[in-house]
Amino acid sequence: MSIPIPQPPSIPFIGNVTALDKDVPLNSFALLAKTYGEIYQLNILGTTIISVNSYALANELSDEKRFQKQVAAGLLQVRNLLGDGLFTAFNDEPDYLVAHRLLMPAFGPMAIKGMIEEMRDICDQLVLKWERFGPHATLDPADDFTRLTFDTISYCSMSYRMNSFYSDKPVPFVVAMGDFLAESDLRASRPRILQAVLGKNAKYHEDIKLMKDLAEQVVAERQANPIDKKDMLNTMLHQKDPQSGRKMSAENIARNLITFLIAGHETSSGMLTFAVYHLLRNPSALRKVRAEIDSVLGNRPAQVDDLSNLPYLTAVMRETLRLTPTASKRGVTPLQDTTLGGGKYFVKAGTTMLVHVWNMHRDPLVWGEDVEEFRPERHVDGKFEKLPPNAWQPFGFGVRACIGRAFAWQEVILVLATVLQKFDLTPADPSYTLQLKQTLTIKPKGFYIHARRRTDNQ
Ligand code: HEM
Repeated sequence: MSIPIPQPPSIPFIGNVTALDKDVPLNSFALLAKTYGEIYQLNILGTTIISVNSYALANELSDEKRFQKQVAAGLLQVRNLLGDGLFTAFNDEPDYLVAHRLLMPAFGPMAIKGMIEEMRDICDQLVLKWERFGPHATLDPADDFTRLTFDTISYCSMSYRMNSFYSDKPVPFVVAMGDFLAESDLRASRPRILQAVLGKNAKYHEDIKLMKDLAEQVVAERQANPIDKKDMLNTMLHQKDPQSGRKMSAENIARNLITFLIAGHETSSGMLTFAVYHLLRNPSALRKVRAEIDSVLGNRPAQVDDLSNLPYLTAVMRETLRLTPTASKRGVTPLQDTTLGGGKYFVKAGTTMLVHVWNMHRDPLVWGEDVEEFRPERHVDGKFEKLPPNAWQPFGFGVRACIGRAFAWQEVILVLATVLQKFDLTPADPSYTLQLKQTLTIKPKGFYIHARRRTDNQ
């Protein structure tokens, strides 16, 4: 016999819309999980959304025979720009399947290893900037890491230099993207009738146009000036899907270029910023990771083989994504009417369900009572490999898991190893307490640092 899924009190017509913080919905989702526990449901303008917070239930939702990714709510609005691009495609769209098969090898570990020098090129620009600014400058790591990850994905995937480090102003694409994502999220929780009244449509469509124009310009430039390089753009332009014999359409190529630029930089820059934040708050972890980097690298540049030889730094990255997963939730839906928790909760086929990775990564039954502590030691000496299945899933799950995981991992480990090898980092405000900024992903807000060039390891 199933029991009702708990729901906070709701208001006629709008349901539970007011239960969600407009700027950082994650804060509300986390609070609701504390109040209602492993599962609760919300009514958002007449649509039921079920939020799952415990490891046990999230593990059930990670069974692809019963559940699949659902593009709903804010993500459905993001389709206004990305359409059937990899991130926002419905599961059976034909162009998605072609792109997925063609691009999986292009994002595979061997291909990514070949991008190390391009990644280093951009990382060196960040190092040079911090060196030139000197130890007294107040640096905004979220901003600089955004420049870095944006330039890196652009340079590696389409051999196109965004040159973000050469401008004071934020990159127009990044601004348009942030505004577009925020507005997409708001549209999902706003009655349609308000859309035109609020006068937000013009700006929304301008942002879409700016991003589409850039992608089309990159494709046109490549077609006019072909280069002989194995980047993702050449894969998309020239290779045929072995299964269908089809090439990708021009429209789908542009959509996927924008997908890479969006999905490929926000999450990684948030991860880098959170990693620095956690290390500065945990001096013993910082000491350990620096000792490891110094002993493996000394003062020489990291090579690709070094990156698999830094177990404590790897544990720091895993713990960063456990405690602060930058993609904090993912949407799934049951393929058929089903029950969860051994028959406890009934869920209808097609219902929108959110796996709240932020909450499940805090399940004490998996991680212990010190879940709020940043402790890389949870992941060393084979402990990571012994975690229960699907307990750590910052990169999503199954066939719709992150295609850029190997890319992000190599980029982040290279940048952290290089930055910690070269700089003493300190918080600009030692009393800073973590606040979040949320668009499609999350990152620390208002967190600033100083970076002093190290002389002790030269
Ligand atoms: C999908 C996280 C970096 C491209 C996903 C998903 C997650 C995720 C959770 C699944 C979303 C869902 O189920 O709806 C992350 C994190 C990253 C990262 C935490 C960095 C720390 C990247 C990078 C790229 C990328 C560097 C490069 C292009 C994508 C794409 C998808 C995806 C295209 C959709 C894949 C598909 O559905 O076939 N990512 N990602 N991501 N990610 Fe990432």
